[in-house]
Amino acid sequence: MNEQALSVRDAIINRRSVKNFNGQPVDLDNITTILDDARWAPNHGLRNPWRFIVAANLEYIKFQEVLKEYGVPKWKELSDEDLEKQMKKFSGAGAVVLVIVKEDVRQKERLEDYAGASALIQNAMLLAWDQGIGTCWKTPPFIDNPKFREELGVKPGERIISMLQFGYYDDIPKNRVRTPLEDIVTYYGVDDEEAATEQ
Ligand SMILES: Cc1cc2nc3c(=O)[nH]c(=O)nc-3n(C[C@H](O)[C@H](O)[C@H](O)COP(=O)(O)O)c2cc1C
Repeated sequence: MNEQALSVRDAIINRRSVKNFNGQPVDLDNITTILDDARWAPNHGLRNPWRFIVAANLEYIKFQEVLKEYGVPKWKELSDEDLEKQMKKFSGAGAVVLVIVKEDVRQKERLEDYAGASALIQNAMLLAWDQGIGTCWKTPPFIDNPKFREELGVKPGERIISMLQFGYYDDIPKNRVRTPLEDIVTYYGVDDEEAATEQ
């Protein structure tokens, strides 16, 4: 386990979603450590509403066959070159984790569980970034495909909320702009004019 290198603030602000991985595998041990730490995410009622399917090392190479089947439309009709291009979005990554959440029949609990799992995913992305490993939270349509779910043993009452890619990268992606705070914050009890003169 690496010693922490980044401050929490630094990791939060500078983490980027990596969409161009360089193909170097991410070792299963790294993924295991990241997930083990990420589990400390807040979750209401300590329901721990998540589980993971990890494909790393040789298994990630095997898993690419599944990704080809479900992630590349009409792959059988493509030339080898076109298929390789299409597969770049999967083959570049170094491992993948499917994050699965229980779908509580109660709406409030279901939202809370999704929120808790989202916090866990952010934890995992920050922990990975701290180790020089990039991530991208992906939600391709096929994660809800019944056949894909069946292939992975995802049960009724469960939902894949993320195909979380892990991988090494050569270049850090540029910052993606966020809405400025002043556009999204209201200071309770302070009128707009007062707030404007305070800035
Ligand atoms: C719920 C969720 C789903 C996402 N799905 C995708 C996706 O399917 N494909 C993709 O390229 N990025 C996906 N992203 C990543 C966002 O595009 C990315 O976080 C955003 O552009 C901001 O970039 P940054 O993370 O580098 O700041 C997703 C992010 C979240 C939180």
